[in-house]
Amino acid sequence: MFFFRLSIPRTHSLTKHPASAKQGFSTRAIHAGQEPEPATGAVNVPIYLSSTYVQEEIGKHKGYEYSRVSNPTRDRLETNLAALEGGVAAKVFASGMAAINAIATMLKSGDHVIAGHNLYGGTPRLFNQVLTNFGLTFSYVNTSDLKAVEAAFQKNTRLVFLETPTNPMMELCDVRALCDLSHRHGAEVVVDNTFMSPYFQQPIELGADMVMHSTTKFLNGHSDGLGGVVVCTKPEQAEKLAFLQKAAGAIMSPFECWLILRGVKTLAVRMVQHDLNGRKVADYLAQHKKVQKVFYPGLASHPQHELAKRQMSGFGALISFETGSLANANKMLRKVRVCSLGESLGGVETLISHPATMTHAAVGEEGRRKIGITDGLVRISVGIEDVEDILADLDQALEAI
Ligand SMILES: Cc1ncc(COP(=O)(O)O)c(C=O)c1O
Repeated sequence: MFFFRLSIPRTHSLTKHPASAKQGFSTRAIHAGQEPEPATGAVNVPIYLSSTYVQEEIGKHKGYEYSRVSNPTRDRLETNLAALEGGVAAKVFASGMAAINAIATMLKSGDHVIAGHNLYGGTPRLFNQVLTNFGLTFSYVNTSDLKAVEAAFQKNTRLVFLETPTNPMMELCDVRALCDLSHRHGAEVVVDNTFMSPYFQQPIELGADMVMHSTTKFLNGHSDGLGGVVVCTKPEQAEKLAFLQKAAGAIMSPFECWLILRGVKTLAVRMVQHDLNGRKVADYLAQHKKVQKVFYPGLASHPQHELAKRQMSGFGALISFETGSLANANKMLRKVRVCSLGESLGGVETLISHPATMTHAAVGEEGRRKIGITDGLVRISVGIEDVEDILADLDQALEAI
C-alpha cells in the first residue's frame, strides 16, 4: 500500500483544503503545498524573495529567520514533492548533483557505497574525483544483477545508489528485490528516479529509503531551471538534509522552486504524452534498417520488458539507439531540425544527445566500453511535440547515414 504523511509547512495554517494522501496524483501535483496564499488568496504560491525575516523580539518570529535555512516558497515545493513521491519530507538543492552530494555527505569517512555501474556520468565523477578524497569508497556493480550486488557488500556498506532505467543503456533494476537484499545487509537504498518521474515509478512503495531527482528534467519539464530533490522516508533523514542545507548552503533559489511548483502542475499530462510519443518513436526506430539496436523498456524485445511492466506504470520518453559509428551519429545529429541536439532530457521539446561525448565523456573510453556505450550510440528524450513531426525529422536525419 502507498503510504505517506504530508508535512504541512508553517505558512499553511489558514489553508481550508489541504491536499490529502487519499487524493490522486494530479490533484496532489496541483494542490499539495500549492494551497491559495492565506494573506491574499492568490492561487499561485508567491516567490518569497527575501533573504531575511523580521523578528518581534529575540527568538520570536513566524518560523523563518534566514533563507538559507528555510524559505516559504521552498517549503511549499518540498511539501509538494514529498507528496508526489510518497515520502515523509523532501529537501531541495541547487541542482541534481548538489542533491547527490548532500546524500553522500550524510555518510562518514570510512563508509562504503555500492553504486550502479551505468549512472549519469556526473555521478561517478563526483564520487571518484571528489568524495574519495574524504574517505568514502565506492564499488560499481550492475544493479540488474542481484548476485553481483550481493557480492559487493562489505561490513561498512551503508548505501546502495542506483538508477532504473539506467542512463543511457536503459537497464532496469528490480527495486523491491534489491531493497530487500540491501536491508538484510544493513544498507539503505537511494533511487535516482529522474528518468521516470514519480508519475511512472514510485520507488518508496517498492522499499527505497530515499529517492532523488534532478528536478532540472521532467519535474520542471520546461528546460528553464536547474535543481535537485531528495525525498525521505524517515524524519531523521530530513533533519540531516535540512542541516546540510543550512550548513553547506547548496539550496534551491525561490525562483527555481516556483518554476518547479508551476511545472509539476502539468506533470501527469506531460508524462502521458511523453510516453505515447516515446512508444511510437521506439517502434519506428526498431523497424528502421539503418538503426542497429534500440534500447527502450517498452519494446517487447527489451530483456526486462516484464519487469518494466510490473515496476513502472509507463515506459517514458528516453530511448537509446545504435547508429554504428561516431561518423554515422554525427551525420544524423547534424541534420535534425525538430529535435534539438543538446545535453539534458525531460523537457517538452525533443532533445537528442550523444552520450560518448556529452553525458558520459567523464566516464572515459574504457569506462564506456565496460558498460556498452559505443561512439555510435544516440540518446533521445522524446518531447511532446506532434509525434508525426518528430518521426519525419528522424526520418530525414537518418537518411544522412
Ligand atoms: C539521471 C540523472 N541524475 C542526476 C543528474 C544531475 O542533475 P543536474 O544536472 O540537475 O545537476 C542528471 C543530469 O543529467 C541525470 O540525468
